[in-house]
Amino acid sequence: MTMIKRTDFASDFLWGVSTSAYQIEGAADVDGRVPSIWDTFSATPGKIRDGSTGAVACDHYHRWEEDLDLAQSMGLNSYRFSIAWTRIFNGVDAEPNPKGLEFYSKLVDGMLARGLQPWCTLYHWDLPQYLEDQGGWNNRATIDAYLQYVDVITKLLGGRVKHWITHNEPWCTAMHGNWDGMHAPGNKSLPLALQICHNVLVSHGRAVPLIRANVPDAQIGIALSLHPIKAGSDSAADQAAVSRHDALRNRWFLDVLYGRGYPAEALALVGKDAPVVEQGDMEAIAAPCDFLGVNYYFPEVVVDAPDEYPLRTRIIHPQDRQRTDFGWEVSPEGLVTLLERVARDYPTGDLYVTENGSSYDDHIGEDGAVTDTARRDYLIRHLAAMRDAIAAGGKIKGYFAWSLLDNFEWAEGYLRRFGLTYIDYPTQRRIVKQSGQWYSAFVRGQNS
Ligand code: FCB
Repeated sequence: MTMIKRTDFASDFLWGVSTSAYQIEGAADVDGRVPSIWDTFSATPGKIRDGSTGAVACDHYHRWEEDLDLAQSMGLNSYRFSIAWTRIFNGVDAEPNPKGLEFYSKLVDGMLARGLQPWCTLYHWDLPQYLEDQGGWNNRATIDAYLQYVDVITKLLGGRVKHWITHNEPWCTAMHGNWDGMHAPGNKSLPLALQICHNVLVSHGRAVPLIRANVPDAQIGIALSLHPIKAGSDSAADQAAVSRHDALRNRWFLDVLYGRGYPAEALALVGKDAPVVEQGDMEAIAAPCDFLGVNYYFPEVVVDAPDEYPLRTRIIHPQDRQRTDFGWEVSPEGLVTLLERVARDYPTGDLYVTENGSSYDDHIGEDGAVTDTARRDYLIRHLAAMRDAIAAGGKIKGYFAWSLLDNFEWAEGYLRRFGLTYIDYPTQRRIVKQSGQWYSAFVRGQNS
């Protein structure tokens, strides 16, 4: 097994976990929270594999102290969380909800009291339903509503929170939400998805100067879900498919964020389905940030597929790869490739791995322990990969494991467990898994 120890990394390296509001909080109708698109979507029969919702989830809204205690007891020095917009505003012209503000204020105080540097994600997919009813992210008024929300939150927490992530994975917001329909709100239209993607990116770019104005010493970034793209074979056709696929999957985001506009290769492929771009949008999206958050899970393997619109590519799942129980390829090398690629091709500044993790079908053993050796090994191998990327010159400054707790895994409901801590949902009991114990020992410098 790979040897890895904390002293392989800088002493100020951030070791954290990542979470998101809808996936853990529950308390769906408590203290003035209003429905989000995920409440609506998950209540729609057939959308979530086990028919579940996030209405209770890990009940983190009521158990946050215990959960922050867990993160502290693991020895972590940072904690990534997201704010539920639906706890802050209950309508377009509403006043902020004091109960919602109080909850996140307490939560942040709780992190600081436990030595956890707060990393706040402003949008992790849970758009208020009242905004969706007016067109959601397809309506540019949602950008204004987002900025109003960002203004309130950064004024409230800016004295205590210095690290801000505007959006989590706009690919998923836009494409899973509106192209393949796997996520809320469940539309199936490429032009709609591309317009929504554009509007979300505009909202990111316009939020950056607003956050800077409210929090002068802020560190601001966005978290992208990025995949290294590999060819399914050595054929020239499959090799050419890689670039087309990459153009939409990765460069569509990276190129615009770093001021290069949408990649010509992708624009040619999507043709008339390209988004409407208003004057000033591209400049806004390219607002300089302080860091890039990389969410990495697996590489995508593609082949040439002339009938597939618009990219003429298809993702394949070769049999000969190691996979998690979710079927995702385990490829620590992919993390090295990805980190090196973004640093080589873009002026990203500091990089943070803002999510990385694995899903396995965990069980409580007869000894009461959750022995998730496969997840522990996944973690070890990905940390070793990150060490290699740093040794090669990468400016990677922190790692946030996905996730602290098992949680509501979107369209998969509770069927997929990603936690370093097991949740026994009927009792809400938390059991730190073998992987969590390993991470804790590692962070404390107790293993080698
Ligand atoms: C990412 C999401 C996160 C979680 C992990 C497994 O795409 O950002 O909320 O669902 O996947």
